[in-house]
Amino acid sequence: MPLPTFDALWQHLDTATRSRSPCNFLQLATAGLDGAPQVRTVVLRQADRQAGSLSFVTDMRSPKVAEIGRDPRVSLLCYDPAANTQLRLSGTASLLREDAERRAFWQSLRGRTLALFEAPHAPGTEIGEDGQPLLQEQPREPDADPFERFQPVTVTLSRLEWLDLSAEPHLRCLYRRTDDGGWKGTRLSP
Ligand SMILES: Cc1cc2nc3c(=O)[nH]c(=O)nc-3n(C[C@H](O)[C@H](O)[C@H](O)COP(=O)(O)O)c2cc1C
Repeated sequence: MPLPTFDALWQHLDTATRSRSPCNFLQLATAGLDGAPQVRTVVLRQADRQAGSLSFVTDMRSPKVAEIGRDPRVSLLCYDPAANTQLRLSGTASLLREDAERRAFWQSLRGRTLALFEAPHAPGTEIGEDGQPLLQEQPREPDADPFERFQPVTVTLSRLEWLDLSAEPHLRCLYRRTDDGGWKGTRLSP
């Protein structure tokens, strides 16, 4: 059976930025600040074939931002139960800090998404039934601008690994970034 081409895999990711296909939700793994692995779901927002990078957005106060700041190596996973396939990605995450770039990203998103950044307390803050923090927080600006909490993250991929268990023989292949910025594909034993 032929390997899926790099472009075909990329097409899959690109489509997922615009539709509720399985790769629209990716599991992002980071190294926690204590060294233990941490994994959570994020929405794939952009896929740049030329740069070989994927982007998602998060709240600047969320633990994953500090984790990426400390160790930018990340893995991403997409599992498609209907197709019986898995796409396993790894690369280096960078936090977009430049205001104009952040603003352009912000403006590309729908109001429903932007409203998530109005949350007054940092993600993971322990709260009571009244929604108020259980512990005293640092005083915050009463009308802090949600944009100030908006953190786009871009992952520059170094590996894309595809596993297809839908037919016999099972198919597994790896695309690795080469020194000249291209991609080299190899078939792997499943
Ligand atoms: C379907 C789904 C989509 C999610 N998308 C995002 C996202 O795009 N960005 C994000 O920061 N958190 C997203 N979350 C929440 C995260 O999985 C996680 O709970 C939260 O970001 C806190 O993660 P952290 O404590 O590791 O920083 C999503 C959760 C679900 C269930």
